[in-house]
Amino acid sequence: MSKPKILVVMQIEQELKDRLEAAGDVQYLAMSTPLDEVKAALADRDGLLGPQGRVPVNDEWLDAAPNLKVVATSSVGYDAWDVDSATRHGVAVCNTPGVLTAAVADMAVVLIISIARRFFPLETHSRSGAWGRREALPPLGHDINGKTLGVLGFGRIGREVARRMQMMGMKILWYDVFDQAPDDAPEATFRPLDDLLRESDFVTLHTDLNQSSRHVIGERELGLMKETAYLINTSRGPTVDQKALTKALENDSIAGAALDVLDPEPPEPDEPIVKLPNVITFPHAGTHSEETRAAMRSLAVDNVIAVVTGEQPPACVNPEVLS
Ligand code: DGY
Repeated sequence: MSKPKILVVMQIEQELKDRLEAAGDVQYLAMSTPLDEVKAALADRDGLLGPQGRVPVNDEWLDAAPNLKVVATSSVGYDAWDVDSATRHGVAVCNTPGVLTAAVADMAVVLIISIARRFFPLETHSRSGAWGRREALPPLGHDINGKTLGVLGFGRIGREVARRMQMMGMKILWYDVFDQAPDDAPEATFRPLDDLLRESDFVTLHTDLNQSSRHVIGERELGLMKETAYLINTSRGPTVDQKALTKALENDSIAGAALDVLDPEPPEPDEPIVKLPNVITFPHAGTHSEETRAAMRSLAVDNVIAVVTGEQPPACVNPEVLS
């Protein structure tokens, strides 16, 4: 029997190449490869390993790759891929949940504390020499201890953020499309979304991006938040209506926002939200650590190998295609 054919469109370490090559005949392409070359290379492949933001998965691409059995992204998010199309084509879509939970939760914690305590203006004050010149310090920040955190999306990452912030003295409210928390969830109170928005001092988003979560925070929802509240987003930019958020921040109808994700990414160079004084933004860096990225690549490789060798992959979002 011929070995399964795998296409890899990302940089991976030698140890992962060895694992893939033990399972199949592997072709490697650089991330910068023009898309028409990637599509041509995929034509006879059984498996694809590549970041969802780089290689499209849709009817057009899957029609052009009739042998394909699995597409594996090295991210937990798979919103750029058309999962319904993959399912119709009998292609498994695999992602990397779990291994990045701590890293993204760390990022959310840092954003919550930094925006509340105004740590970045203080750091700039020191770095710019303003402290040395004895200039006035930036305005005082606010404590998080005793405040209410509303967690929108109570999956792995949302629960981990809740756990950490509870240990730091916050009261936790949560909302999700399911209203029953799993057994291992930290102590937290379910609230319908509107109530959570009205009652929270900080609202942190941890939902994946899908039809129902697109713009889940828009003008109406921002209008429900306290004037003193902060919005934190480490999930996906389009969960928030960015124009409405910009307006709310410009009008001080909420106190501030800390955003690791924007819509689009990267933003236009003159995107106004990144320059607002009551905002801190980061370039989608929640998983930006050696250990976490290595774990994500490794899980993505495990996923591809499992499917092309007829095994059950560790993480598949449309497992019905495997049965
Ligand atoms: C993910 O894995 O989806 C993170 O957002 C990094 O892209």
